[in-house]
Amino acid sequence: MNPHPKILLIEDDPGIVAGLKKELQSEGYHVATATRGDEGLARAREHACDLVLTDLKMPGLSGLELIEQLHAAKPKLPIIMMTAFGTTETAIEATKLGAYDYVLKPFDMGELLDLIAKAVASSRLMSEPLEMGQARSAQSAIIGNSRAMQAIYKEIGRVAATAVTVLIRGETGTGKELVARAICQHSKRAAQPFIAVNCAAIPETLLESELFGHERGAYTGAHSRRMGRFEQANNGTIFLDEIGDLSLSTQVKLLRVLQEKYIQRVGGNEKIPVDVRVLAATHRDLESAMQEQQFREDLFYRLSGVTILLPPLGQRREDIPELVKYFMHRSGPELEIKSPSIQPEAIAFLQSQVWPGNVRELENVVRQSLLLARGYSISLDHAQQAYTRTRKPVAAPDQTIAGYFTELLTRAQRGELAGAHARMIEEMERELYTRAIQLAEDNQAQAARWLGVTRTTMREKLIRFGLRATGEKPEQTR
Ligand SMILES: Nc1ncnc2c1ncn2[C@@H]1O[C@H](COP(=O)(O)OP(=O)(O)OP(=O)(O)O)[C@@H](O)[C@H]1O
Ligand SMILES: [Mg+2]
Repeated sequence: MNPHPKILLIEDDPGIVAGLKKELQSEGYHVATATRGDEGLARAREHACDLVLTDLKMPGLSGLELIEQLHAAKPKLPIIMMTAFGTTETAIEATKLGAYDYVLKPFDMGELLDLIAKAVASSRLMSEPLEMGQARSAQSAIIGNSRAMQAIYKEIGRVAATAVTVLIRGETGTGKELVARAICQHSKRAAQPFIAVNCAAIPETLLESELFGHERGAYTGAHSRRMGRFEQANNGTIFLDEIGDLSLSTQVKLLRVLQEKYIQRVGGNEKIPVDVRVLAATHRDLESAMQEQQFREDLFYRLSGVTILLPPLGQRREDIPELVKYFMHRSGPELEIKSPSIQPEAIAFLQSQVWPGNVRELENVVRQSLLLARGYSISLDHAQQAYTRTRKPVAAPDQTIAGYFTELLTRAQRGELAGAHARMIEEMERELYTRAIQLAEDNQAQAARWLGVTRTTMREKLIRFGLRATGEKPEQTR
């Protein structure tokens, strides 16, 4: 990473320019300046920079116009607006147009520098590929420019540099692990170890020894002393994934480590000090787990110093085209497809589907589409087939509900499908609509009346479930 981020300062008051430039340079930033709005816009478009700091009122082009045009051209570039005309209106307008934040003149230099540091961190997060280390050789970036994701980048930027414990929540496949790695990578501990522990994947009896290590002879089979993950992560970061799956007794021990900052190996008395930053994630509803006494409240509060909630993919559909292209190019080489491409109708189709498995599911469908297209451009037909294939219904013909639930849960237990509830609702709905439209012999109004839904809903569902394709007979679900 270039240690000297570049800032473009657009301001017509020479006094402010001189003062700010000096401050910023002493903080290690490279500073370029422009005194007119239009000049600033041209400069920002032509030269790479990490952040733009702009005045509101200046000749050539107003700050708001500049924000609008620059944001359209470079959506990932953070823009901070400085304004003396501090009405909330302008501030809201600026944020709406894409400004990262704004400061009111006269401003507090410390606060401004702080804001700049955070904005630069989140901007780099978006433009730099993340090193994923370990098994994953391909570099991974966080993709998405939707408002919801922009807010996430800001949050990451805000917490990265601190030592605070972060709880990352969100449905399965929304990118929780990716965010954890991003936080680590943009923290002061980036060069130190990042250790990820999947608490759900390790049997309860082994988890404590995995986390805290054990002494020789601590239990049958403990032939030698073993260092735990916390010790391995010393001075670095530990990512406790699926934290909602911890047993109550491990929760107590974890809480003690967080409070007292030392660990004791299983079967040992020695108190070993550890300096570890903790990041945790879960897709579980911890609030109900607490109500059911399955998750300790004190641990919850300790972990959730800051909570980052990742939005489900369905709430940021505008990110889907970019994600699709990203996954196409990421999977292409592995599948030996040289220059993967996709037709606009296929993208539109993917954008309109339901995604209970979120980004991970989209990634699978894209891979499947690439395979089906065999090196040709992915068509609507490929995308539809891939989508149906990857979500082959769990239910077998005329299976009982109880049998279906057992099957579904067994699959969820084996980790073959994520989000059993969402999957069940979707499959039931799909089945219901399929049968209704068949029984109504394609009469949508009739089917809608039977189901007690509006015709608009009916139409939406038919498109969603691929039942109203280009004049074909409704497709069977199995
Ligand atoms: N915004 C994103 N940009 C690019 N790739 C993403 C994004 N979000 C998720 N992914 C990819 O989707 C997959 C799932 O992401 P990740 O493992 O971080 O999800 P998760 O929230 O931890 O899911 P789970 O709860 O099932 O563990 C990964 O391959 C990840 O690289
Ligand atoms: Mg995960």
